[in-house]
Amino acid sequence: MSSLVDMKDITVEFPGVKALNKVNFQLLPGEIHVLLGENGAGKSTLVKVLSGIYKNNSGQIYLNGKSVVFNNAKDAMLNGINIVHQELNLIPHLSVAENIFLGREPIDNGIINWKKIYNDTEEIIKKLKINIDPKVKLRYLSVAQKQMVEIAKCVSQESKVIIFDEPTSSLTDK
Ligand SMILES: Nc1ncnc2c1ncn2[C@@H]1O[C@H](COP(=O)(O)OP(=O)(O)O)[C@@H](O)[C@H]1O
Ligand SMILES: [Mg+2]
Repeated sequence: MSSLVDMKDITVEFPGVKALNKVNFQLLPGEIHVLLGENGAGKSTLVKVLSGIYKNNSGQIYLNGKSVVFNNAKDAMLNGINIVHQELNLIPHLSVAENIFLGREPIDNGIINWKKIYNDTEEIIKKLKINIDPKVKLRYLSVAQKQMVEIAKCVSQESKVIIFDEPTSSLTDK
């Protein structure tokens, strides 16, 4: 089987530190990988390169065998690569549903279809068995609830690759 993702000789340098030194990573369709390493090993940097947040100084990324360059996270998202970050990236004064559909709101005749946004959010929340009101503003949620919204947002997209960068560190066992 050919690789879905192939990262070749990825090097990333920050001022004074080489975070990644010719790292290779391959992902076949259907595979689940775990990146294991101590703090500062470069795990987040590697997945940030794959999700378009950091640019690699050298090396290549191939998607389905085709060389790709992601200039930002949206580029990666449009290619089906989505990431749940360790730190939260949600907007406090927007509702759960607004956050989940931020930047990809369904539009009918030039108008945002709010009914669909709230119905779809209801469905996603039910499916993931998280007990949160789609209409509540993010700032009223606990850190664990916010993190679950972040996860719901990610898994509800049309993804080929979903990256979890330690997003469960703030969750309880339940
Ligand atoms: N934006 C940045 N600017 C400068 N240095 C960074 C930045 N991001 C990560 N680093 C450095 O790169 C190295 C790898 O960090 P990181 O990828 O966050 O590791 P991990 O996720 O495995 O803990 C560390 O030395 C870290 O300090
Ligand atoms: Mg990290």
